[in-house]
Amino acid sequence: MEEQLNICDNNGNGQKISPGWWRTTGRQRAAILLGCAGWAMSGLVVAQSDDADKAKTIVATVCSACHGMDGNSTVATFPKLAGRQPEYVARELREFSSGKRKSDIMAPIVATIDPDDFKALGQYFSAQKPTSEPVLDQKAADAGKKQFLEGDEAHGVPSCDACHNTDASGSKRAPRLAGQHRQYLIDQLHNFQNDVRNYESARVMREVAKRLNDDQIKALAEYITGL
Ligand code: HEC
Ligand code: HEC
Repeated sequence: MEEQLNICDNNGNGQKISPGWWRTTGRQRAAILLGCAGWAMSGLVVAQSDDADKAKTIVATVCSACHGMDGNSTVATFPKLAGRQPEYVARELREFSSGKRKSDIMAPIVATIDPDDFKALGQYFSAQKPTSEPVLDQKAADAGKKQFLEGDEAHGVPSCDACHNTDASGSKRAPRLAGQHRQYLIDQLHNFQNDVRNYESARVMREVAKRLNDDQIKALAEYITGL
């Protein structure tokens, strides 16, 4: 019986081959020299950089017109995407494409994008450095800060930091809000109130937003935009 050598498959798992290994492809031979981890990682890096390049091209040709190449849109009704959690960005793209998050602007755009690219688009935007906006009404921002950190027990509104983090940088549970355009924040809190974002992961926010009045929404937006 021929003696067998251990090499690796693409996932870094061991695999037996016969000593006639020089008949294998150049890539497999390289793997034997690099060891399992080396091959698995080099495959991964190639795949990731391909996806990243494709995402960057899509952003340059499609998304940047509204969201900016660095994900910091300059128009108050177009959300900033820079620094947002990658899973959140990918999920919202899926919700637009399923029609459960309604937007006359985003729906026809996502229809032109391959869902396989949603993840890399999320990674691209999350890696960009987010900016914040100047506060224009300090009194409103102060009221917003109190509401954000303490909630409004009398009306059953939880504090926002419980899910969005103390500095509104977001968490695994809820997306980054810090620095977002005030008008977009106001529009979305209304969209939750009116069931425009009518899908499972938005259920909590529909409950929260329905308990807020317009003055509270304005104050919260004024505070969050300056973070
Ligand atoms: C013509 C302008 C325009 C273009 C181009 C555009 N968007 Fe948007 N995008 C918007 C608007 C407006 C919204 C807010 C939609 C709403 O009302 O909920 C939005 C929302 C989003 C959101 C949700 C953000 C959040 O905080 O929930 C994501 C993610 C997004 N866009 C990604 C993309 C990607 C990726 C591309 C490129 C493939 C793109 N957009 C191209 C205008 C645009
Ligand atoms: C129990 C957790 C929780 C609490 C408390 C909470 N949020 Fe959220 N929030 C979420 C989740 C989850 C989402 C993402 C919803 C989705 O998938 O569309 C979200 C989304 C949002 C969005 C939309 C962001 C975007 O980019 O479109 C805004 C605005 C927002 N929250 C504001 C607030 C404010 C203001 C408060 C406090 C009054 C608050 N949230 C409290 C969980 C929470």
